[in-house]
Amino acid sequence: MAMRTMELGERVGALDILRDDHDRIRDLFRQFDDMEDDQSRKMVGDQAIEELEAHSAVEENIFYPEVLRALEDSALITEARASHHMAKILAQELKWLPAGEHYNAKFKLLTKGVIDHIKMEESVMFPQFEGSGADLQDIGLRIA
Ligand SMILES: [Fe+2]
Ligand SMILES: [Fe+2]
Repeated sequence: MAMRTMELGERVGALDILRDDHDRIRDLFRQFDDMEDDQSRKMVGDQAIEELEAHSAVEENIFYPEVLRALEDSALITEARASHHMAKILAQELKWLPAGEHYNAKFKLLTKGVIDHIKMEESVMFPQFEGSGADLQDIGLRIA
């Protein structure tokens, strides 16, 4: 994830890295929809969950504390953390579920929540943070 971007030798900002993650996660959700059989859906679904977990950890440990410091909007961060929590509960269950219609149904539920959450980050949180004057390059380096 973030490492690949940094290997290009660019100094990329925090939001570029996070948006890249979002694109990859959304792409895996689309692949899940395109799969014809349950085994392939489970494979793509579990891969999406791995990406999601890595991305969420970076946001929770590095990014959200910076957003809270910059925007002083605790409700926004609490809402974001609650969304992560819901996704984690579903993801834990999904990991142990075999391929099949139960897996597919729960995965669709996960994707709905995550897509809404990503939309909130990209349309509300990121623009506000961008306008706050925080050092995006420095945070980007820490994320990478
Ligand atoms: Fe998030
Ligand atoms: Fe995110």
